[in-house]
Amino acid sequence: MALLSKKNEASAEFEILPEHLGIIMDGNGRWAKKRALPRSAGHKAGANVFRTISKECERLGIKYVTFYAFSTENWKRPKEEVDALMNLFMDYLLEAKSDMTKAGNSKIKFIGEREGISQELLDLMDEAEEETAPHTGTTVYLAINYGGRQEIVSAVNSLISQGKTQITEDDISTNLYTVPECDLIIRPSGEERLSNFLLWQAAYSEFWYSDVLWPDFKVENLHKALSDFESRNRRFGG
Ligand code: FPP
Repeated sequence: MALLSKKNEASAEFEILPEHLGIIMDGNGRWAKKRALPRSAGHKAGANVFRTISKECERLGIKYVTFYAFSTENWKRPKEEVDALMNLFMDYLLEAKSDMTKAGNSKIKFIGEREGISQELLDLMDEAEEETAPHTGTTVYLAINYGGRQEIVSAVNSLISQGKTQITEDDISTNLYTVPECDLIIRPSGEERLSNFLLWQAAYSEFWYSDVLWPDFKVENLHKALSDFESRNRRFGG
């Protein structure tokens, strides 16, 4: 499953890449506060870093990358901040729609609950998924209105509605969003927790933390995480 040995021109520096990389984009608010800017400015800077890092994942040949962009709990934030985030998602998708080179050769996919998201944004999400479906590069999952517990509960509910009375791990796995097991999770900003991200898929994830705030996160930080990952001895409980 998880480990993929890969050597291509772009990633000659990495012998082993995570097949699926998860990134918790944290620290936008603190980045903005340090500069006496509104939190939305931190998210905007963070959105630009997302663009850079997702492109680098594609260049390196990482197969799947999931960015935690908006959790089911984030609705509790002030409306102004929620609106600013939704607008950033729209801007990115409008950009990708008007100029497909912005998405590169990546497939864009979404995980999370659709309920609660505006129809306008849902339409753009659907279009982006359709337009980028033929792409053959990295699959970029954007977790929007996503919660790991909610994902598991909804898988169990769908099994109940299929009439199951006994379930297996495989039953749950196949009823989650179609995101593979996660090999490495990067969390910047000094926080060392999972925050309801990919709970099921992270069962054997490696973790990599950094004090760098997400808007300051550079390609070099990604490379450091990937080179640390190469040196991990993964035993998967064996
Ligand atoms: C957590 O940091 C970050 C979020 C809740 C939002 C992450 C979203 C983005 C970076 C925008 C992504 C844009 C696109 C187009 C995918 P925080 O704001 O809670 O930081 P803090 O802990 O310092 O307050």
